[in-house]
Amino acid sequence: MTDKSSGSTPGTWSGRFSEPVSDLVKRYTASVFFDCRMAAQDIRGSLAHARMLAKQGLISNQDLSDIERGMAQIAAEIDRGEFHWSLDAEDVHLNIERRLTELVGDAGKRLHTGRSRNDQVATDIRLWLRDAIDQILALITQFQTNLVDLAEIHAETPLPGHTHLQIAQPVTFGHHLLAYYEMTRRDAERFTEVRRRTNRLPLGAAALAGTTYPIDREFVARELGFEEVCENSLDAVSDRDFAIEFCAAVALTMTHLSRLSEELILWMSPRFGFIDLADRFCTGSSIMPQKKNPDVPELVRGKTGRVNGHLVALLTLMKGQPLAYNKDNQEDKEPIFDAADTLIDTLRIYADMVTGIRVKADNMLAALSLGFATATDLADYLVRQGLPFRDAHEAVALAVRAAEQRGCDLADLSREDLQALMAHVPGAAEKVGEDVFGALTVAGSLAARNHIGGTAPVQVRAAIARARARLAKA
Ligand code: ARG
Repeated sequence: MTDKSSGSTPGTWSGRFSEPVSDLVKRYTASVFFDCRMAAQDIRGSLAHARMLAKQGLISNQDLSDIERGMAQIAAEIDRGEFHWSLDAEDVHLNIERRLTELVGDAGKRLHTGRSRNDQVATDIRLWLRDAIDQILALITQFQTNLVDLAEIHAETPLPGHTHLQIAQPVTFGHHLLAYYEMTRRDAERFTEVRRRTNRLPLGAAALAGTTYPIDREFVARELGFEEVCENSLDAVSDRDFAIEFCAAVALTMTHLSRLSEELILWMSPRFGFIDLADRFCTGSSIMPQKKNPDVPELVRGKTGRVNGHLVALLTLMKGQPLAYNKDNQEDKEPIFDAADTLIDTLRIYADMVTGIRVKADNMLAALSLGFATATDLADYLVRQGLPFRDAHEAVALAVRAAEQRGCDLADLSREDLQALMAHVPGAAEKVGEDVFGALTVAGSLAARNHIGGTAPVQVRAAIARARARLAKA
């Protein structure tokens, strides 16, 4: 922003006022510093509006071609970084309109016929969000594709599954990764839904009540690729629920990536030692030479808080506003832009980061045997031999306690040991056959969970095939 002129320049509405605003108020009320990001959308919207005005005979064809020529030049100036953004002209809309009038004269002054900045800004922000959503959807697909590739490599790699951060049952690493595929699949569905409700045209609502000119809103909607027109002018200029929904969808996606980040951080800690992250996502310490810190996942976790803040900011922005437009709404842009920027960068980084995960399968397997992860399988084995589940649970708990005291895994106990340990539970010991050790192996435990949604490698491969089929259509 280069404009340094003082408060004395006459504004667009100077006729009504007897004194200029101070420089401070001018800076306080201006939005051009950030809404200049919507310049391309503003020009698109204005061109569609101008074409409609010409078609309806509200401006001449000569006016329209002047406007088109002027806008082409403005777009080129902006692209080249030569456009002079002026604080005096307050926002992106007035800056572009003022330059247009400089370039083409009266035709520029006719552009605002039948329109207000209120429906104009609502249109611009919807167009901007639509573009951002399309970019986000493509990036989610890219992230999922790389995630599924890694899941396929590890469709059979055993990982301790946790509940309460205590080792629970074996799962495959591929199965674990696919949980995040499912989360982000719902995230993509949410963005698709938000896009549908965002993709409606406010233009034509004018300031708040509609306009006296014979406009054609359906025409403008088609020109801009909107699926519908907003059907109430007051609502069209004032509500920002679509932006709130967008931030909610961003916050949820970031929340899912934050959970994955937390896992990567834990897994990379030497206490777990399950994975290593590629060096390009980590940093060292300025004082401790041995350190390799997972900075990128930590920042994803941290930036999730910031995005959650944007969601709360927008909800709070809206809650007290009477109909219709209020200047409060100008405050919607920075949270929207920052939420989109943060998610877009995070998804880009994550798509690359998952390809740089090195899995330490031996450590995962070693942790499994320390955690008695097949205890449930032993109980299920006893149930298959006819013991009621509650009794089986109790019998296995006794065996686990003994194994823990001896410092060995369940599979290290002999059949006779198991029988003796279960002696207190009537009917349990005689159910322990020679085949019990099949149930106690990790591979047996995994393969047994063989239904849709289960962790058996054959099911993981089937889930991967379904995911790939969906990704091919995305
Ligand atoms: N810069 C304004 C915004 O972002 C544009 C609309 C201004 N309308 C008005 N009546 N002051 O909301």
